[in-house]
Amino acid sequence: MQTFIENIPKAELHVHLEGTLEPELSFALAKKNHIELAYDSPEALVAAYDFHDLPSFLTIYYAGMSVLVDEADFYQLTYAYLSKARSQEIIYAELFFDPQAHTTRGVDFETVITGIHKAQLAAEQNLGIKSQLIMCFLRDMSAESAKQHLEMAQPYLDWIIGVGLDSDERNNPPIKFADVFAKAKSMGLKLTMHCDVNQLNTQTHIEQCINTIEVDRIDHGINSLESEELCELIKDKKLGLTVCPVSNRFVVQSLTSNEIHKMLKKEMLVTINSDDPAYFRAYLNENLFELQKEGQFSEAQITTMVGNAFKVAWLDDETKKGYLQQLENYTRQYQ
Ligand code: HPA
Ligand code: ZN
Repeated sequence: MQTFIENIPKAELHVHLEGTLEPELSFALAKKNHIELAYDSPEALVAAYDFHDLPSFLTIYYAGMSVLVDEADFYQLTYAYLSKARSQEIIYAELFFDPQAHTTRGVDFETVITGIHKAQLAAEQNLGIKSQLIMCFLRDMSAESAKQHLEMAQPYLDWIIGVGLDSDERNNPPIKFADVFAKAKSMGLKLTMHCDVNQLNTQTHIEQCINTIEVDRIDHGINSLESEELCELIKDKKLGLTVCPVSNRFVVQSLTSNEIHKMLKKEMLVTINSDDPAYFRAYLNENLFELQKEGQFSEAQITTMVGNAFKVAWLDDETKKGYLQQLENYTRQYQ
């Protein structure tokens, strides 16, 4: 099973680039940029990763970004993730980034997106991993700020496939961003939003995502299982759910393997992802290993979830078909 998981060609649809910042790279960038870190070594930094819910994780996640300053830093961050991903047989990835977490520190939007974009091009050419970029808005900032950042993205629309919504969900419902998401949609961008696990008013938030915002996908979305009506809507609209087991274990103390089994049984388009792999110390393969171990998922079930990721990816049908064929060629050897 381990070899089957390691070698299966896969896609990742829910990974925050800033969440792929490894402690070693953080130290190297701090030194280069003359930034003082509060820890003596990468090991000491990891030892201080003390999170138990979404807000406590976010505090550490935003603090970590201070070492990202110039274009080369964003290039290095992105290239390092794409190299690691390729080594795990990820052949396609959709990458989140949080521009507001950088512009608020005085780093230009252009610096961030140019560094990321150049690394995507280089990784596709050198490593054969294709990727697309999703710009996230921070939901604990204002809708006005989100709007301004969408404006900043105008000259770079060819580099962005969609918009997302992340950060602290408490008292920050999807409808707060209805206007800016409508604008993004009119600009031809795809839409997704985080519906994090066990949040206050989670069912209302999921319902708003689907019916008001009309998202193309939902990030996490585990709590949809509490409502038959929401499950039916998600199925009717063929919305993918990007679930992140190890992340869930950190923020809600559960890998959610039972919930993932339920989604598979209902034929919901559940996919497995790493979210913030450098912080949760698990990339996509480790997420699949842990999940399989706890939930005893079969090779066929793993294949279904990997296939779902290609199916709900923001790609044209021809490209999807090519990836799904690659997946089928792989699984055929095991039959
Ligand atoms: N949820 C909300 N915000 C985030 C996450 C997440 O899983 N990861 C990085 N920012
Ligand atoms: Zn996330």
